[in-house]
Amino acid sequence: MSRLGFIVAFISLQLLFVPQVYSLGASHLCRSYCGNVTVEYPFALRSGCGHSGYRDLLFCINDVLMFHISSGSYKVLNIDYAYRSITLHDPHISTCDSIVLGHKGNGFVVENWRAPYLSPTSDNVFMLLGCSTQSPLFQGFPYGKHSPCRNVSGMGCDEYYGCQGWTDLGLARMGLAYGTGPPVCCSLSFDAIKSVNLSKLECQGYSSAYTLAPLRVSGPSEWTYGIRVKYDVEPNNDSYCKACEATGGSCGHDVDRLGRLCICGSWNSTSNCDTIMKLSVGGTSSPADKLLGLFIATTAFWLTSFRT
Ligand SMILES: *[C@@H]1O[C@H](CO)[C@@H](O)[C@H](O)[C@H]1NC(C)=O
Ligand SMILES: *[C@@H]1O[C@H](CO)[C@@H](O)[C@H](O)[C@H]1NC(C)=O
Ligand SMILES: *[C@@H]1O[C@H](CO)[C@@H](O)[C@H](O)[C@H]1NC(C)=O
Ligand SMILES: *[C@@H]1O[C@H](CO)[C@@H](O)[C@H](O)[C@H]1NC(C)=O
Ligand SMILES: *[C@@H]1O[C@H](CO)[C@@H](O)[C@H](O)[C@H]1NC(C)=O
Repeated sequence: MSRLGFIVAFISLQLLFVPQVYSLGASHLCRSYCGNVTVEYPFALRSGCGHSGYRDLLFCINDVLMFHISSGSYKVLNIDYAYRSITLHDPHISTCDSIVLGHKGNGFVVENWRAPYLSPTSDNVFMLLGCSTQSPLFQGFPYGKHSPCRNVSGMGCDEYYGCQGWTDLGLARMGLAYGTGPPVCCSLSFDAIKSVNLSKLECQGYSSAYTLAPLRVSGPSEWTYGIRVKYDVEPNNDSYCKACEATGGSCGHDVDRLGRLCICGSWNSTSNCDTIMKLSVGGTSSPADKLLGLFIATTAFWLTSFRT
């Protein structure tokens, strides 16, 4: 073959590869929408996208975003990326109008490996309802000093007893607050117990509420019922993801080894999409990547020698 023939061949080969190599448009590869909720880093709906701590967590079912952990499935009402919080709804959460007993609610229990990444916010109050005398909550009686029940962010059972829902259940406020057994309602923060497992705590139901600071709302009829969860993605280590996105990539992870990956379209990098040398998973080049590198190098050589 003539020298010109080689050049033509190599240019054709390069044209075949170039559009893939330089397609720096992967930043939206991992973004999804479910109903009107945007799902993006650290969350994802696609396998391999997002942070590994949030893998297999969110599912979009008929345009409803669902959040799935050990204790059950919750509807996601909102993801606040600025405040790193996610708001969940459990249909069996008691509100002010409706007290739901009968062991129906999910509570809130996350898998051990996921615990560092997700926990209800410190200003979210959990109110455990109808827990038995034998409940681990009330071990170490007499009540009072050893009771874990507290007000959280100005919200607690004393006010919750004023809700219409109790009256509808046929329970009067006085009887609720001043009985001789354990309290019918025990409010606490998630941090106090680290897991709201209703069967383990022997409770018949629960409520969860939060107020959006700095607004102070007056009473339980104005609290927002739901579970507000904060998500923490190694805040000191986000430069990795920023660098990936700045070069047009999408932050993801290796599905098998769970290490971080920058998804660059047709290849993955362990750093960012400008680093052509780190083409593949885990930093070791596959034969295809090596071949691609060889084509680029050889074509560059031929083009240069043709000009001079
Ligand atoms: C890049 O990583 C994603 C997520 O782990 C994976 O689905 C995809 O197959 C990888 N692509 C390549 C070219 O290795
Ligand atoms: C809750 O506690 C019960 C009893 O200890 C246990 O069997 C169950 O697996 C726990 N649920 C979750 C979601 O961890
Ligand atoms: C999504 O739409 C529902 C009504 O369809 C609305 O209540 C909710 O606030 C919306 N969420 C967001 C994040 O816009
Ligand atoms: C909670 O706050 C109320 C006032 O809103 C107060 O009367 C009550 O003693 C507090 N309860 C606890 C357990 O601190
Ligand atoms: C940052 O993330 C990388 C990759 O996951 C990890 O190897 C490193 O230890 C992390 N550094 C810190 C300070 O957490």
